[in-house]
Amino acid sequence: MTNPLTAPIADPGSVDAAILNRISVRAFRPDPVPREMLEEIISISKRAPSGTNTQPWRVYVLTGAVRDAICDQVCKVFDDIYEHPELAEQYKPHFKYYPDNWVEPYIGRRRETGWSLYGLLGIEKGDKDKMHAQHRRNFRFFDAPVGMVFTMSRLMGQGSLLDCGTFMQNVMLAARARGLHTCAQAAWNDFGSIVLPYVGAAEDEVMVCAMALGWADETDVVNELVTRREPLENFTKWMGWDAQ
Ligand SMILES: Cc1cc2nc3c(=O)[nH]c(=O)nc-3n(C[C@H](O)[C@H](O)[C@H](O)COP(=O)(O)O)c2cc1C
Repeated sequence: MTNPLTAPIADPGSVDAAILNRISVRAFRPDPVPREMLEEIISISKRAPSGTNTQPWRVYVLTGAVRDAICDQVCKVFDDIYEHPELAEQYKPHFKYYPDNWVEPYIGRRRETGWSLYGLLGIEKGDKDKMHAQHRRNFRFFDAPVGMVFTMSRLMGQGSLLDCGTFMQNVMLAARARGLHTCAQAAWNDFGSIVLPYVGAAEDEVMVCAMALGWADETDVVNELVTRREPLENFTKWMGWDAQ
C-alpha cells in the first residue's frame, strides 16, 4: 500500500500543465458552466492553506440575471466616471493593490503587459475611448457566464489577503483542469461599495478581488496574449549549496 504522505501524486505532469496552461482569458464563450462543476472547483479549492487555518475567504458566485444586473450597474458608474472624472473619488478600493509611485522594474513590466494587450487589440497610445471600452469589459466579466466576488472580513489582518490569494489560485487551477479558464479582476475592487450590498455581504466584509470564469473564446485575438516571466536567476538566490 502506498502511503499518501510519502508517495508522489500519480500524475505530477497534470498539475504542472494546469499551472502552465493557466492564462488570464479576456474573452469567453457564453456557454453556461454547470453548477456541479463549480461546486467541485470550490470544494477542492477550500483545501488551500491559511494562517492558523483561519480560512478567511468568502466567495459569491454570480450567474444569469444576477450577474447581468451588477455588470449593468457597475458599467454605468464606470461610464459616468469617464464623463465626470471627479466622481472617481467616491469609489475607492478597501486596500491598495498598486503603489502611488511606480518604480522599475515593475513599471516596465506593467507597461509591457498593457501595451502588448492593446497592441493585439489595435488600440493606439492616447486612444482613450478604446482604452475605456477595453477596461470596461472587466465589468462585463469579459462575457464570462460566471462572475465570482472574493471577500474577507475587515477585522482580519493583511495576512489574510495571502490566504485569499492561495484560495483564488486553487480556483484558477481547478477550473483549468476542467477545461475552464479564468481572469482574476482587481478592477472590480474600486466598486466594493456597489458590489458588497448587492451580494448581501455582511457589514465587516471587504472586496478582495473578482474573477471571470468560463469557457475561453478561442476565436478572439485578446486570448493570444502570452505574458513573459523573469528567468529564475533574476529572483532566486541559492544559499548553502556549495558544500552539497
Ligand atoms: C489579483 C489579480 C488581479 C488582476 N486583475 C486584473 C484585472 O482587473 N483585469 C485584467 O484584465 N487582468 C487582471 N489580472 C491579470 C493580470 O494582468 C495577469 O495575471 C498578468 O498580466 C499575467 O498574465 P497571465 O495571467 O496571462 O499569466 C489580475 C491578476 C491578478 C493575480
